[in-house]
Amino acid sequence: MRKEDFGKDFVWGVSTAAYQVEGGSDLHLKGPSIWDTFVRRKGKIFQNQTGDIACDFYNRYTKDISLMAAMNISHYRFSIAWSRILPEGMGKASQEGIDFYNRVIDFCLSLNITPWVTLYHWDLPQMLQDRGGWENREIIYWFEEYVKLCVRSFGDRVSQWMVLNEPMVFTGAGYFLGVHAPGRKGLKSFLAATHHAALCQARGAAVIKSLQSHSLVGTTFSCSHIEPHHHRERDLVAAAKVDALLNRLFLEPLLGMGYPTGELKILQRIEKFMRQEDEKSLSFPMDFIGVQNYTREIVTHAPFMPFVKARLIKADRRKVERTLMNWEVYPESVYHILKKYSAYPNMPPLIVTESGAAFEDQVTDGEVHDPRRLRFIRDAISQVGRARQEGIRVEGYFIWTFLDNFEWAEGYFPRFGLVHVDFKSQRRILKSSGKWYAAFLENASAEELLPLKQDVSY
Ligand code: BGC
Repeated sequence: MRKEDFGKDFVWGVSTAAYQVEGGSDLHLKGPSIWDTFVRRKGKIFQNQTGDIACDFYNRYTKDISLMAAMNISHYRFSIAWSRILPEGMGKASQEGIDFYNRVIDFCLSLNITPWVTLYHWDLPQMLQDRGGWENREIIYWFEEYVKLCVRSFGDRVSQWMVLNEPMVFTGAGYFLGVHAPGRKGLKSFLAATHHAALCQARGAAVIKSLQSHSLVGTTFSCSHIEPHHHRERDLVAAAKVDALLNRLFLEPLLGMGYPTGELKILQRIEKFMRQEDEKSLSFPMDFIGVQNYTREIVTHAPFMPFVKARLIKADRRKVERTLMNWEVYPESVYHILKKYSAYPNMPPLIVTESGAAFEDQVTDGEVHDPRRLRFIRDAISQVGRARQEGIRVEGYFIWTFLDNFEWAEGYFPRFGLVHVDFKSQRRILKSSGKWYAAFLENASAEELLPLKQDVSY
């Protein structure tokens, strides 16, 4: 397997998200987001860690992006922190915040790296949460204002946009389970947030296109290949429900198919939040769909589980190889998901906007050897190649993630990066997986490692 097997237009990149890497959270630099607030609630985050400094990308972006360039990475997906450019969520913009992203974008372009911008990667301005956040229908207007500001500020240099990052995760973890910001719980919060996020994903895309018709607009979905625990009727039904929830809930309304209420009756309650015309407003012809895949899920019938009557059997219980997230190591999952998604009529091209794995890393003599991450990424890329060979339109692959970073409720414990970060000294070391990716992008065969031209630690 070589890079050239994927064709010259295939997009190769890395992804990050603002709150997970930037730091720069002092109030004079940025308005507070729901994550700034949530991490201060005792017991919510592993060891009560915060993203206040994270990878200090706010101050170190030139070195980090220079390393990307030295690794032959030509596309960088990052997100904009809404409250950095609109500290109160709406109203007065912060020129200082806008200038930070101007510098990041300009620096990428100076090194021939194409910026791919995610508009919302979970860090809602706290001021908007104080008014109900995603549960308040007004968010459609707040979001519209924010999207317009982004396109007007950066659209002369950015033309690849992703509207939302994994709406299922931020509504599920943030508004149903309460384990992510803003820590809301319950079905009512979840369904309201879901419907408003689904409206915003279509509306945001329409706004970008109206201001910048040549742009390439997509949005991203978390998705996992799902299998029933046993091939018996009740597990099959349970698996279909989980599939509707995890893989279809936000995609199908976007494709004009409405919510998947057939398998998941509980979703009928979204009607309470629907207004006339909403059904139409949920759909939009995206230029691409971002697929974010890490593992597969095995599902069993669970009569006492509210709403879904289904349960995931986690990797440790199944005694299979797993990552630090307790996710099964199963790189074939991405192939199955690409196949499943590409079977929808009118599906635009797919781009894998996140794929990666967290393993324990050790620094030995200033080096980090991470063969398990390297193998996972190489195998996932080969599964993407398999999908392409079968004619599936998948046009890009972004690794999650460039730097070890703040992994939400898990804090700094799970390391996903191609680059190791010592969070005390902020020293970076390129891991073997990163060296492998660099060599692969130089068109070495998947088995070779080539020396890098520049320093790989700083
Ligand atoms: C998110 C990232 C996260 C990664 C690993 C995705 O759900 O978009 O922000 O760090 O998965 O958990």
